[in-house]
Amino acid sequence: MKKIILFADPGIDDSIAIMYALMHPQIEVLAIVSSYGNVTKQKAVDNAAFLLNKAGFSSIPMIGGTNSPLSGETPEYYPEIHGPDGLGPLTPPPFKGRLNNFSDLYDILHAHTDVTIVDIGRNTALAHLFLLGSDIEPHIKDIFLMGGAFLVPGNVTPSAEANFFGDPVAANIVLQRATTIYIIPLNVTSKAVITPHHIQQITAYSSHPLVPIIKELMDYYTEAYQTLIPGIKGAPLHDVLTLYLMVNPGKGRYVRRSVSVLVEGEGKGTSIADFRPGSRSKPGDPAICLEFDVQAFIDDFIFTISSSPI
Ligand code: BDR
Ligand code: CA
Repeated sequence: MKKIILFADPGIDDSIAIMYALMHPQIEVLAIVSSYGNVTKQKAVDNAAFLLNKAGFSSIPMIGGTNSPLSGETPEYYPEIHGPDGLGPLTPPPFKGRLNNFSDLYDILHAHTDVTIVDIGRNTALAHLFLLGSDIEPHIKDIFLMGGAFLVPGNVTPSAEANFFGDPVAANIVLQRATTIYIIPLNVTSKAVITPHHIQQITAYSSHPLVPIIKELMDYYTEAYQTLIPGIKGAPLHDVLTLYLMVNPGKGRYVRRSVSVLVEGEGKGTSIADFRPGSRSKPGDPAICLEFDVQAFIDDFIFTISSSPI
């Protein structure tokens, strides 16, 4: 069983990642930290709370993350991909419950010895955790980050991917302070495409109450991606792939390299690693995912969602 703390900015693919984690028999979600990113922090909190409630997991601690990047810049949001409130056509009610304090994360970490942190949004809140807490490393087993784009175009500028672009200062803090990092970059996650045919396979077999929500989100997200990338058969579940590779360590191929992120100028958010032949890694360098078993991911996604007990 993998015990995880999930840092997210739901957002459609984050929301499907949250549902995948809740439905996965080998993942235990210890807490969800919701921050700005695809949407405002408030909407990210409302969306995560809505999903936990629909899934019957309202007891999982909800932690309010961050409102804006460490640079103090105003965040950019992406309603054209994720919908006006981050959940495609859905508008969840405002969250009326109690948010846990950010400092509760330290208690949660200290209560365990082998927590995996999965950050599928801007790295601001995770950077705060490292800046404020000096003694957390022994409690963290691995850190999985969805972020960066290597040797291919980005998705928010010619060279930058949205999560590293959204707060490159925070990304560098996490990359420098933490060990045992796995990076699942955009050039890899873009291949994790789920199509309407895959969703139809799920809806034909499952009457789980989350499945109609997944279908509504995927219909919206697929249309948005097909407008963005004519000819694409579905839409990439960047954040779900990150969880899949966390829980299926043998299904990805990685190389260790030092990574840094450009913090300003035209190249802001660009992730840099040395892939030249003959370049070397040092102990503690992040493992960068290069490729994964695409069909195994698709099969696992369909199976995990369709076979989850109600
Ligand atoms: C990442 O940015 C967001 O749009 C997605 O949720 C994903 O985490 C892809 O660049
Ligand atoms: Ca995300």
